[in-house]
Amino acid sequence: MLNRKARVAVLVSGGGTNLQAIIDAQQSGVIRSGAVELVIADKPEAYALERAAKAGIDTRVVPKKQMSQVEFEATIRALLEEYNIDLIVLAGFMCILSGDFTDRYPERIINVHPALIPSFCGKGYYGLKVHQAALDYGVKVTGATVHFVNSIPDGGRIISQKAVYIEPDDTPEILQRRVMEQAEWIILPEAIETVSHNIIAGE
Ligand code: GAR
Repeated sequence: MLNRKARVAVLVSGGGTNLQAIIDAQQSGVIRSGAVELVIADKPEAYALERAAKAGIDTRVVPKKQMSQVEFEATIRALLEEYNIDLIVLAGFMCILSGDFTDRYPERIINVHPALIPSFCGKGYYGLKVHQAALDYGVKVTGATVHFVNSIPDGGRIISQKAVYIEPDDTPEILQRRVMEQAEWIILPEAIETVSHNIIAGE
């Protein structure tokens, strides 16, 4: 029996359906070894903030537009320290974090990417652009990847992946939804449970 739960912060930028999947997984018991203590958004209009508030989770906005990258990352780091965070989850967080930031949290930051890395990933591949690129290329299978975050965008060690078939009439929006439903919302909560468990079991 583990003594405590890993303290998790989720960083978001938009709708927050992955955050919702994490909240639901906590409630259903898929996530047992971690607890989301804080949600940080880089913009005040992120709907994810409302999802967090509804679930009784503390929220903070760190407005990227109004500050330098150095100030942005320092503000996030101070919040992570204030909340004693063990694990940082990027769930639809559309900002690239510098090596100075990621090097401080080796194998303590995870990200969900809406493709099978190493396809359609790296700088410039985010949100619907990823699905547009998969359709333009003509691949028949895509999916999602959860990986540790290091200084290379989408370049850290892969934790899990799940494949999703592309259908003949897919648009980027239809494909995005299918990849979320069939892959992201499943593998991200599972990975949070695994990594949280490993963090506290290693203490
Ligand atoms: C998700 O598909 C996520 O994988 C992707 O943005 C979407 C956010 O949706 N993230 C990236 O592209 C990061 N490179 P959500 O706000 O509803 O979770």
